[in-house]
Amino acid sequence: MLFSKTTAATTITTLLAAGCAARASAARPRPTSTFSTSVISSTASATSSATSEVVSVAQWATIGVTQYPNLFDPNAVNANEVCSGYSLSGLQTTETGLFGRLSLLKACNVYGYDFDELTLFVEYQSSDRLNVQIQPVDLTDVYVLPDSLVTKPGVETLTLVDSDLVFTYTISPFSFTIIRKSTGEILFSTAGNPLVYENQFIQFNTSLPKGHFITGLGESIHGIQQEPGANKTLYANDAGDPIDGNIYGVHPVYVDQRYDTNTSHGVYVRNSHAQEVLVRDESLTWRLLGGTLDMYFFTGPTVKEVITQYVSTIGLPNLIPYWSLGYHQCRWGYHTSDMLGEVVENFRKFDIPLETIWTDIDYMDSYKDFTTDPHRYPLDKFQALLDTLHANHQHYIPIVDAAIYHPSPLNKSDIYPVFDDGLAADAFLKNPDGSLYIGAVWPGYTVYPDWLAPGTQDWWSKAMVDWHKNVPFDGIWLDMNEVSSFCVGSCGSQNYTQNPVHPPFNVGGPATSFPLGFNITNSTDIPYYNSIWYTYTHTPEPSTTATTTSTSTTVSTNPMNTKAPGKGNINYPPYAINHQQGNHDLAGHAVSPNATHADGTVEYDVHNLWGYGITNATYHALLEVFPDKRPFIVSRSSFPGSGKWTSHWGGDNSADWAYMYFSISQALSFGVFGIPMFGVDVCGFNGNTDMELCNRWMQLGAFFPFYRNHNYLGAIDQEPYVWASVAEATRTVMAIRYEILPYYYTLMYEASKTGFPALRALSWEFPDDKSLASVETQFLVGEAILVTPVLAPLVDYVKGVFPGVPDEVWYDYYTHEPVRAGPGENVTLAAPLGHINVHIRGGYVIPTQKPAYTTTESRKNEWGLTVALDKAGSAKGTLYVDDGESLVVKESLVVDFVATHGSLYTFPRGTYTVCQPLGSITVLGVESKPSVVALGETKISNFTYINNTLSVQNLESLTNAGAWSAPLVFSWE
Ligand code: GLC
Repeated sequence: MLFSKTTAATTITTLLAAGCAARASAARPRPTSTFSTSVISSTASATSSATSEVVSVAQWATIGVTQYPNLFDPNAVNANEVCSGYSLSGLQTTETGLFGRLSLLKACNVYGYDFDELTLFVEYQSSDRLNVQIQPVDLTDVYVLPDSLVTKPGVETLTLVDSDLVFTYTISPFSFTIIRKSTGEILFSTAGNPLVYENQFIQFNTSLPKGHFITGLGESIHGIQQEPGANKTLYANDAGDPIDGNIYGVHPVYVDQRYDTNTSHGVYVRNSHAQEVLVRDESLTWRLLGGTLDMYFFTGPTVKEVITQYVSTIGLPNLIPYWSLGYHQCRWGYHTSDMLGEVVENFRKFDIPLETIWTDIDYMDSYKDFTTDPHRYPLDKFQALLDTLHANHQHYIPIVDAAIYHPSPLNKSDIYPVFDDGLAADAFLKNPDGSLYIGAVWPGYTVYPDWLAPGTQDWWSKAMVDWHKNVPFDGIWLDMNEVSSFCVGSCGSQNYTQNPVHPPFNVGGPATSFPLGFNITNSTDIPYYNSIWYTYTHTPEPSTTATTTSTSTTVSTNPMNTKAPGKGNINYPPYAINHQQGNHDLAGHAVSPNATHADGTVEYDVHNLWGYGITNATYHALLEVFPDKRPFIVSRSSFPGSGKWTSHWGGDNSADWAYMYFSISQALSFGVFGIPMFGVDVCGFNGNTDMELCNRWMQLGAFFPFYRNHNYLGAIDQEPYVWASVAEATRTVMAIRYEILPYYYTLMYEASKTGFPALRALSWEFPDDKSLASVETQFLVGEAILVTPVLAPLVDYVKGVFPGVPDEVWYDYYTHEPVRAGPGENVTLAAPLGHINVHIRGGYVIPTQKPAYTTTESRKNEWGLTVALDKAGSAKGTLYVDDGESLVVKESLVVDFVATHGSLYTFPRGTYTVCQPLGSITVLGVESKPSVVALGETKISNFTYINNTLSVQNLESLTNAGAWSAPLVFSWE
């Protein structure tokens, strides 16, 4: 989102020069253009005056102290070479494990000061989970992550459990090894490397077998595998999706899938500090900048079991409301409520289902949370729009930013009760000297809620409840919660009287990049982009005066990362992580590590939990807004356990093919992390998208649980109706998504019960086939639907594998033809623009409902069943139904389906009443034309049999009491 005119000018000239000789693209209707106003608003933004002088946060206040990431420092000391580790003594067994004392063999004080004495606890907590905990005997100044904050799994039974994991150890130097009893393999072993345990640096290593397959360790934009050479920095970061860098959330967990023994296990390190994990050919090194070592080993032995064991340990994901599975439209740059209303109408006009419209910070009054701009979003008009939306069964979600504007006491009209109430509740983070910590975000100088302070929840809940009375939202979008600040340190401490001030960069200039292949498929758009560029380069820049003065309390001037006793040098720890911000300062684009919570905890210890805290608080606030309904939240930052309260989107990706490609691995990793309701900004956020990319992405996004198109302020419009071909492709794919909503909802329900996500890697479902391990271009929705999207420009085919063949059979979703594929064969499939390959796996029954414009309307439509027979002529499936919104589900219905020997049986159980009839049944893979087809005793003569597919329609008259009111038998012979 940062933008510099000089570099942008160079980029666009080069691009346009390169892209002129090309064939024409499809004509694009443009119902509205948001572009020219974005340019104006970029100058107006927080200060609302385009002509007067705009005061900004000073550039230099964003810079911080240059850090040299240890990873790249050729002179960095290797702790394994200089440290000697500990020796074990006093070992005693307990009911559930053992404990002992670790004594330092020789001080090394490499990136902090060594602890002399540690305690080792080993606990067999359940048959599938082993806990190894090592912590200093003297816990003074050591941050111990409380159970009340992040669930600390405990023993599930007091009797000794039978576990497949065996803990063994060496005494001096101390090392430990986890062995799988049933196979004899070593799963984890620190043997050969010392344990390093210092006040600001903990390190352990495990050996790994050559050719290992590790997944997890997020959040980052990376392929599915964490291959040798991968360096994972885990530190929550507001950064627009740098590939391989640390971004918004932190998930210190990995799955180790072993193909030689066909077993998998998982390792979770419960720690909220900055971390770095180095994956190498035959080892993995884990570094933590504080806290304690609290490790959990999960037995698996299948990947599926590892995921369910882990996710049920950290907290099962909440069950989403049904409506959240509908399509979401968002952009930064819906400047007025009129414009928002036009977008809603355009969707209707182009007959593209729109479930939920979103507003970005544009709706706010000078970017202040819980306000609406009186001119651009006048309440009466805005409320009328929301009333209409709700009357049409549509929904609305606004953004809520993490930081709270600090009004200027020098300006009597600068009134902001949300701030005053927060101050009165003592709800904000402080500097070490007890003064307010004041950073800077969109509205200017801001303060930050302290989620550990006792009054914060009530203040936050009240703000939400009060605001909902004016702006009846249906869910909340939580942004900037890493937690982001545009300056280093408490830069507003001496400057907040200047508020409102402009961010220290130009907000929202035109995006200048275009997707790969743009010049070929979209050449007719080039004059349009040229005109935008002309407007921008001829719009005077706001005059920005940097008047911010230096702050003394938080900015360290010591770039040498010296060691310090006690908690240590928390702003500039001796070990510098590779934080993906300009100069790697931990306070770069974030609240500084020395910001202090009410209980004395410093951000250094809990930085990675800020987003988790606001999510928890918002979930509980929404329970007050809608006491009986499931809250729906989408948060940018996350931590193990966030899935209990929130969904997640992948943050600020770019409108380029690479990001569409990586979105699959992102989604799969969030399944492992326990946040199955995941999606990315479809069509791309930063940069301009184009027709071809948006066409492909709208189709791919339709198979992700969370389906939202979102766009950067200065980028061209990208609603699916902007291009005729995208509109068409979107209608086609949405018809599929809405048709299979019952199947999707059932999967989300199962995820909320077991922790196993809806979106699945091929290797999770077919764990014995090593060739599927790194497939990251295809995925499964549940067990039954295989999606093979096009992820590159300028092609009309795609290659994909069909797992399990020849035992499995896969049917084309559209033609019902079985695929002809050999084992491991990379099959070439036709994929003209507007067509996404989707296949149904034989052996499964997919419950469907006739698609409509909204999910509410779809739920009122008749049901259908798609029965895809396997080679033995059998199939099975399940359907879960409830009212789709109750927090505590009182009435639900589960229907099991079994097809065998020419009959399909439905077995409903439960109390939720479904009135809609069963309208159609389609059976794929029927070997010969049946002579008799019947529902119960009633013969059906009006059936079709084409391509080995038996289809019956218009069953309503036979199922009028409701499709699942009683067991049914459908037969063919
Ligand atoms: C952040 C968000 C993005 C949003 C923008 C403006 O960059 O990640 O989605 O549009 O802020 O609020």
